[in-house]
Amino acid sequence: MKFGHFDDEAREYVITTPRTPYPWINYLGTEEFFGLISNTGGGYSFYRDARMRRLTRYRYNNMPIDVGGRYYYINDGGDVWSPSWSPVQADLDFFETRHGLSYTSITGERNNVRVETVHFVPLETNAEVHRVRITNTGDTPKSLKLFSFAEFNLWNAFDDQTNYQRNLSLPEAEVEGSAIYHTTEYRERRNHYAVYGVNSEIAGFDTDRDSFVGLYNGLDAPEAVTEGECRNSMVSGWAAIGSHQVNVELAPGEQRDLVFVLGYLENPPEDKWESPGVVNKEPARALLARFATSGQVDDALAALRTYWDGMLGAYNVDSGDERVDRMVNIWNPYQCMVTFNMSRSASYFETGIGRGMGFRDSNQDLLGFVHLVPERARERILDIAATQFPDGSAYHQYQPLTKRGNDEVGTGFNDDPLWLIEGVAAYIKETGDTAILGEDVPFDNDAEDSGTLFEHLRRSFHHVLHNRGPHGLPLIGRADWNDCLNLNCFSETPGESFQTTENKDGGTAESVFIAGLFVHSAPDYAAMAEMVGEQAEADAARVSASEMSAVVLEHGWDGDWFVRAYDFFGNKVGSAENDEGQIYIEPQGFCVMAGIGVETGEAERALDSVGEILDSDHGIVLLQPAYTSYHIELGEISTYPPGYKENGGIFCHNNPWVAIGETKLGRGDKAFEYWEKIAPAFREDISEVHRLEPYVYAQMIAGKDAPKHGEAKNSWLTGTAAWNFVAITQHIFGVRPEFDGLRVEPILPSHMAELSVSRRCRGAEYRITVGGGESPGVRVDGVPIEGTVIPYATAGETVDVEVSI
Ligand code: BGC
Ligand code: NOJ
Repeated sequence: MKFGHFDDEAREYVITTPRTPYPWINYLGTEEFFGLISNTGGGYSFYRDARMRRLTRYRYNNMPIDVGGRYYYINDGGDVWSPSWSPVQADLDFFETRHGLSYTSITGERNNVRVETVHFVPLETNAEVHRVRITNTGDTPKSLKLFSFAEFNLWNAFDDQTNYQRNLSLPEAEVEGSAIYHTTEYRERRNHYAVYGVNSEIAGFDTDRDSFVGLYNGLDAPEAVTEGECRNSMVSGWAAIGSHQVNVELAPGEQRDLVFVLGYLENPPEDKWESPGVVNKEPARALLARFATSGQVDDALAALRTYWDGMLGAYNVDSGDERVDRMVNIWNPYQCMVTFNMSRSASYFETGIGRGMGFRDSNQDLLGFVHLVPERARERILDIAATQFPDGSAYHQYQPLTKRGNDEVGTGFNDDPLWLIEGVAAYIKETGDTAILGEDVPFDNDAEDSGTLFEHLRRSFHHVLHNRGPHGLPLIGRADWNDCLNLNCFSETPGESFQTTENKDGGTAESVFIAGLFVHSAPDYAAMAEMVGEQAEADAARVSASEMSAVVLEHGWDGDWFVRAYDFFGNKVGSAENDEGQIYIEPQGFCVMAGIGVETGEAERALDSVGEILDSDHGIVLLQPAYTSYHIELGEISTYPPGYKENGGIFCHNNPWVAIGETKLGRGDKAFEYWEKIAPAFREDISEVHRLEPYVYAQMIAGKDAPKHGEAKNSWLTGTAAWNFVAITQHIFGVRPEFDGLRVEPILPSHMAELSVSRRCRGAEYRITVGGGESPGVRVDGVPIEGTVIPYATAGETVDVEVSI
């Protein structure tokens, strides 16, 4: 069952009912100012950091599920309704939400009044713009009152939700003309404030929440709206909001546009005040002047579209299947951009206060983003590397506002360092910018202690080599990619965080997954060592990698699949010896991607086992059989009910590892089948089962042990986006940048006989067609070449590539 449809021409998903199986959201903003917005107008916005600089309030775990947002109300002669359906939830004669690339427009119509609101963050602007277009679709005049609503958050979202003894005395605001200013804490150390303005005369305003809503009302029936009159309240403590009342007279057929702007402004410390106690509003006035007319809004929307045209032009496929094309050309890169911007901080499943930018996550997000805006990927790499410790280990997370490692989460995830190698390699392959390896980057953000970026990579690589266990496999530390495989935690205290609790000393738990990741990253590391003239280091790295492969085959092979780990006591995890958790997906995917056992048959056997044991109708589950009770020696993984999350859920993040592994074995049908099973556009028809957005991946789909098999959770912010993009574009379609050229080596499913791809890389344009031919091979501008790597062309050139398979 579907709740809308794709409009590929417009690059939109069109939702035709407010009652989706869960709120279906979108993101506004491209660089520094962001908003989350659901199909019924719920959500919030923030500047750079969802925890430290949140503009508007949002209540997670609310009832109804999604109430809180920037809302518009209509009072039509006493009939009160919301064009976004929520929060009033009055029946609408027409409802449609169009989620597009960095904008959302919501249209509601009732009693011949149609209101279409487009929400977006203009490029290079720290503000949301909401253009509210009101049309009288009937044949009698309308006299309406429109009310806006936004509830301000007291900047630090964690404090805002916890520190009421202080916060209820703080809120302050100013009003000037039609602009409402939220100025809480500006009197002391903050140099920033928010503005909420409209390009029209107003009939009234409110800044005090209780005056507007009424202490015992909900947002479905604010007193000012139902009574048809704002109170002109000035907040002083309690809760600050912004509401404008605009009276609108419309003749039959007449239409009127109102432009609302909700923005973030900063003043230099010496220019904080206009006059004693009066906030300097100069930057806000300039902002409002940029969006004073509907024409200016049209221009900004057009610029946003052009921006996306440019980015999406980097990779385009025509596969003959519209579902494939819309994933690859539109929605998957879009999600990659969002994960690059947000990491795992703010979604409808991540509160924006828990997690900043993950070291591991951000490096992986780069893999799907780097071709879109390489310069931003470069900056991100340097930020991430600066949170690495001198011994090569890393802060697990950092806050985007301060770019400092997050002490609350700490360190000890022993896979983290290797992801930096993967991220940097992807960046250099895409851009050829080897100079980045020579950039001076601090360790632990300490300017006194720095090294080149290559030195950071060296410490990453050697961190693994220096931390090995009795079998010669890498020590796992707190956990590896699987945050929930906590082999040194031994946690007995209810509620204790597995991510931060003290580990038990003396353990030698080892990870086969990290071994696979090590072998996978080693050739790139060695190549980068050569780029900086470190031949001996490169040679040694290659030797270490082949030794590690041998160790995996000796101690990490279980007979039919790769073992997952050795626990604290040296017992196998993910082995036929175990009663539960006999086989895990991660080492199968990553060891095969790394090439381990490809020549000797173990790789094929391992992936066959995945197909036989882990695969299901909805994707590949993380492990089997799921754990049915808590295992103190395994940690968080065994806390989840069977079939959810890491305990046997379908972790969409590592399904593509298996798909890529299948391409290594030349099995295009299997690879595509795994890719397609979890691709949202392919699951659109079962939206009532899947429940989350059919245009973006979710982190997890409940596995076969769960009562709700097939139901997704945690959409948007997941490494799934980057890895699926890599799997389909680089391995199945086979177009991937390497250090010395663009490789074109498709491993297609048998039903896909033809394909064309256009790929922009290092400023040149490659037009690639894949099809049958007399003899297999690659022709570049009509000339056959040896192998499948096309030397990079000069920027500005167009290269025609024909591949016969
Ligand atoms: C989740 C993981 C997540 C970790 C870190 C765990 O509860 O299951 O998926 O990575 O928390 O926040
Ligand atoms: C989500 C985390 O963000 C990611 O870093 C981790 O690898 C997976 N969960 C698996 O635990």
